[in-house]
Amino acid sequence: MTRMISGIKPTGGLTLGNYIGALKRFPSFQSQYQTFLFIADLHALTLPIDPKMLKENTFDLAAFYLAAGLDPNLSTIFLQSQVSAHSELNAILQNFVYMGELSRMTQFKEKSLQMNDSAIGLGLFAYPVLMASDILLYDAEVVPVGEDQVQHLELTRDLVQRFNHRFGDILVIPKAQLGKTGTRIMSLSDPTKKMSKSDPKGNIELKEDLSSIRKKIMSAVTDSEISIRFDEKLKPGISNLLSILASLTNQSMEMTVASVQGLTYGGFKTKVADVVTEEIGSLQKRYQSMIKSGLVQEVLNQGAKRAELVANATLQRVKKAIGLW
Ligand code: AMP
Ligand code: TRP
Repeated sequence: MTRMISGIKPTGGLTLGNYIGALKRFPSFQSQYQTFLFIADLHALTLPIDPKMLKENTFDLAAFYLAAGLDPNLSTIFLQSQVSAHSELNAILQNFVYMGELSRMTQFKEKSLQMNDSAIGLGLFAYPVLMASDILLYDAEVVPVGEDQVQHLELTRDLVQRFNHRFGDILVIPKAQLGKTGTRIMSLSDPTKKMSKSDPKGNIELKEDLSSIRKKIMSAVTDSEISIRFDEKLKPGISNLLSILASLTNQSMEMTVASVQGLTYGGFKTKVADVVTEEIGSLQKRYQSMIKSGLVQEVLNQGAKRAELVANATLQRVKKAIGLW
């Protein structure tokens, strides 16, 4: 059965961008593929993070995986740090990725720009190597992510080709799987920037109060026209709200645009706010019941055991191919 893998970093409150670009889509793969979903807690260390927050965020994210509809009987849900093969393969693959390639990564450039030059860790630079290891250990062909991760997937594909060319058919070439809409949800306060965990003014957090969510959508930056159409360049704010609406209602962009014709911007925003608060509201209820259920820890324990079986087999295959004992 084809394998699918994806992960999210526990670096802060999950946003609507994470939800639409990644989390919401994960459960839909469970019936088609053998699915592996993990929490990228080692990757979280590439940004400054307090130990207590890291622990809390990790637990929260696991609860959100379950609340979003991942079924631990169908999906293997685990913590990256609990499967040591991720770190081992990382140490091996570091030797097959070039500094030049890594320095071209947009995520590295963006994140390091926000940091003091003397405090940019090696882990941030080498981030895509660990990410490649995460994927390759599971022989995953399908990797659902948002648009910002496509470049990392391309690097992973190049790495596999280079590695296999030298050592034989050892690693499987993965492919990024993007949604039809909502691959890059933008900030509500500045729709030319990506919605991110670190921008509370422009983001919507999955744990946020529903009234605060509604307020942010009603005051989202748009433009001074009156027509509702999808044009990311000329109308980034309206296009972003359309993407959110299309993704949450599972409708094509054409149908979504048609469904809001005749509305004023105010009426359109109200419709988007209704849909978003309804979806996040019910997600929050399921999240609360997951927390109360006490199941989260057990799911992660079982998940790590299952993931380890697959990951260790691949690691052995790689070690053997390159001449390690
Ligand atoms: P991260 O929070 O960086 O670990 O991201 C986890 C997942 O969410 C990745 O697949 C990202 O591509 C996706 N993602 C993050 N921000 C956005 C956004 N603004 N729009 C769409 N997808 C996003
Ligand atoms: N880099 C991803 C992000 O920031 C998270 C991640 C880590 C990931 N390893 C992965 C996603 C492997 C997919 C597959 O969003």
